[in-house]
Amino acid sequence: MLDLLIKNVNLANGKKAQDIGIIDGKITEIATNIITPARKTLQGNGHLASAPFVDSHFHMDSALSLGQPRLNQSGTLLEGIKIWGELKPSLTVDAIKARALELCRWSIARGTLAIRSHVDISDDRLLAVEALLEVREQMRDFIDIQLVAFPQDGFLRYPKAEQNLLRALDKGVDVVGGIPHFERTMADGSASIRRLCEIAVERDLLVDMHCDESDDPMSRHIEVLASETIRQGLQGRVTGSHLTSMHSMDNYYVSKLIPLIREARVHVVANPLINITLQGRSDSYPKRRGMTRVPEMLAAGINVAFGHDCVMDPWYSFGTHDMLDVAHMGLHVAQMTGVEQMQAAFSAVTENAAKVMHLEDYGLKVGCHADIVICEASSAIEALQLRPERLYVIRRGKVIASTEPRVTQLHLTGEDSPVSFSKGLF
Ligand code: FE2
Repeated sequence: MLDLLIKNVNLANGKKAQDIGIIDGKITEIATNIITPARKTLQGNGHLASAPFVDSHFHMDSALSLGQPRLNQSGTLLEGIKIWGELKPSLTVDAIKARALELCRWSIARGTLAIRSHVDISDDRLLAVEALLEVREQMRDFIDIQLVAFPQDGFLRYPKAEQNLLRALDKGVDVVGGIPHFERTMADGSASIRRLCEIAVERDLLVDMHCDESDDPMSRHIEVLASETIRQGLQGRVTGSHLTSMHSMDNYYVSKLIPLIREARVHVVANPLINITLQGRSDSYPKRRGMTRVPEMLAAGINVAFGHDCVMDPWYSFGTHDMLDVAHMGLHVAQMTGVEQMQAAFSAVTENAAKVMHLEDYGLKVGCHADIVICEASSAIEALQLRPERLYVIRRGKVIASTEPRVTQLHLTGEDSPVSFSKGLF
């Protein structure tokens, strides 16, 4: 007897009209016509069933703080940092928790069931750490939250950063963060990478650094991050987030850099919504797009994911934490409009992001967790075209969110006629 049977869904890998059997929160069978009796049956009606969306780069401590204490009038990174600095002294654990929990509810509604959130450890009170550890615990049954100890004000630049970072890890923060391009010198950036990787080795933790989030083509910390990854034996356990300077780097240098990133098995996270709005700001025309070299790195066999980074905070006034918005923007900015590339953009917010987070038993496969999102679209590419409703969000075999199909009636001739945007081409 199955606990749940999902009938007639199309899979993100292109397989059509499949049934999915679930027992004890695990996927036990995927086949064309499952006849095993089930306690509950969901009709998929030819819609897309996918493993859940994963946001591998986010900032939950600032999410939904837009307007506090004031709006960003210039829309720039620098004014955003200033506003965050103004808000910090008045932050409370309860306020951070309330915003983060609200964000989690938005995420679940959008089918995002795993989030890696950086948490600022530059505040000596570690209020955000305390708040987000509680949120991680409170939401454990619904969302996998991974926290990164993030020295926003610099690891060597901010005097208590190492002490705070170690305290945060002692409290249970999962991943070692960094921000080498924000240190005072290139040498300090390199030194910070070396020390942070040592800490990760000592504590057997993953690493995820904000790295080269700059338009400066000479910001080359990713090279040091990749070489330290190899030197300290951290292959496959390190992520370089943003890497926007790669957009502006010399092509010959990049031809040497990409194989190094590949050799170190460093994961890459681009954040298209934020990169496209914050980078290239000092340019006149042509204006750089600022996103890292996603198709080139994918072609080289590097694992590249897309992250949301911000939702309604001092840096970004938009977003409902919908990873389909992220993939949609990512494929536009990177000009990934080939059929395989569109498919790859969907993977960048699902399986690739799950690899960044080292999620276990993730995927729409037999033996994996029964964590499934059913979208009102016929395929992964159509989901990118329509960014449709998430009809059902399933966690460990239980429906934890449901949304009615989107129906619009036209009244052009006096009679109701529904309009459909689905073309079913992919
Ligand atoms: Fe970030």
